[in-house]
Amino acid sequence: MAATPAGRAVKRLVVLVSGSGTNLQALLDEIHRTGVTAYGAEIVAVGADRDGIEGLARAELAGLPTFVCRVKDFGSRGEWDTALAEAVSAFQPDLVVSAGFMKIVGKEFLARFGGRFVNTHPALLPSFPGAHGVRDALAYGAKVTGCTVHFVDDGVDTGPIIAQGVVEVRDEDDESALHERIKEVERRLLVEVVGRLARNGHRIEGRKVVIQ
Ligand code: GAR
Repeated sequence: MAATPAGRAVKRLVVLVSGSGTNLQALLDEIHRTGVTAYGAEIVAVGADRDGIEGLARAELAGLPTFVCRVKDFGSRGEWDTALAEAVSAFQPDLVVSAGFMKIVGKEFLARFGGRFVNTHPALLPSFPGAHGVRDALAYGAKVTGCTVHFVDDGVDTGPIIAQGVVEVRDEDDESALHERIKEVERRLLVEVVGRLARNGHRIEGRKVVIQ
């Protein structure tokens, strides 16, 4: 098993995507740039809730195994959740990263990966949770927004916060321009946080995340 310069095992990451996968790409690029052992983690598989997305194409280009778990292929949301948990478990990850994965996972998934399932959200939580964080901040008239990297719990974007990045809202912003600026900050933050979690380990004390 590969080890980091500090002698710790390189962590295994499974990344979940639903769309363009630029956050996944940022992780791939950084791991490629630094090398797996210096970064402290390697991506061992990429999963999605739909076919034909750029995120999966990026994974395939990087030579990574991929899997797709679509809600509509299962009789119930619970069955889908169990299947997703099984598919992820098969790769024995230390951390699971939701990088633009637009589904709420259920009990079975959290039972297996709670406390090590990281999500990135395009707003400053607890403001503007849910599927439209950028649009909602803009509509509210917020002057600053940003991104939040957090652990997933059983609520919608309510889990313990690991790190946040701030982005100013400009008068001329529409949702797409603002989201692009947020994603520039978000990609750097996610790469930094996942690396630190992998290299140093963490503990969760109530709502507080402490990275050793
Ligand atoms: C990111 O901005 C991420 O925060 C957001 O989707 C985008 C994915 O971009 N996720 C959510 O809104 C989850 N509620 P990417 O596919 O280019 O990485």
